[in-house]
Amino acid sequence: MFSAYQGTVDYTGESVESAAEEVTKTFTGSYGRYMPQYSYVVVRESALACATLVTRREGVPLLVFAMTAPAWKRKGLAKATIRQAMQDLFEAGETQLDLVVNAKNSPALNLYLQLGFVPDRGDA
Ligand SMILES: CC(C)(COP(=O)(O)OP(=O)(O)OC[C@H]1O[C@@H](n2cnc3c(N)ncnc32)[C@H](O)[C@@H]1OP(=O)(O)O)[C@@H](O)C(=O)NCCC(=O)NCCS
Repeated sequence: MFSAYQGTVDYTGESVESAAEEVTKTFTGSYGRYMPQYSYVVVRESALACATLVTRREGVPLLVFAMTAPAWKRKGLAKATIRQAMQDLFEAGETQLDLVVNAKNSPALNLYLQLGFVPDRGDA
């Protein structure tokens, strides 16, 4: 998470410790109940290359984090893992997956639009 966000519009000087804290908060329910069955990590060369973390918040699945390590960006890993999570959710009867994205984060925005996400709030 730390290296994935560094240098992006969403990076405001956070430390590796605060990144670890965000992951812990995700796993322990601060952003809704963590759903490991719909979450993915990709390991390449013995290190984390990409993660797609899903929770359920207010009854609706939420894509809390999508992140790819710098060396593995733009190789289709985020697209593949989010698409897989969407497929898993659909097969389990879910018809919605929410997320929040900074409109200035064009890599993420392009990714989500490509996957079929539609905006429902101008400020989100
Ligand atoms: C956004 C992020 C998760 C994309 O991960 P990735 O594994 O590199 O994405 P993919 O290779 O699957 O790319 C899929 C599509 O996303 C879009 N995209 C990804 N990176 C992009 C970039 N740098 N510029 C423009 N579009 C980009 C493209 O549409 C791309 O499809 P294409 O390669 O066929 O053109 C990654 O850049 C990241 O970790 N960013 C920091 C964390 C973050 O901002 N997460 C989202 C918070 S809501």
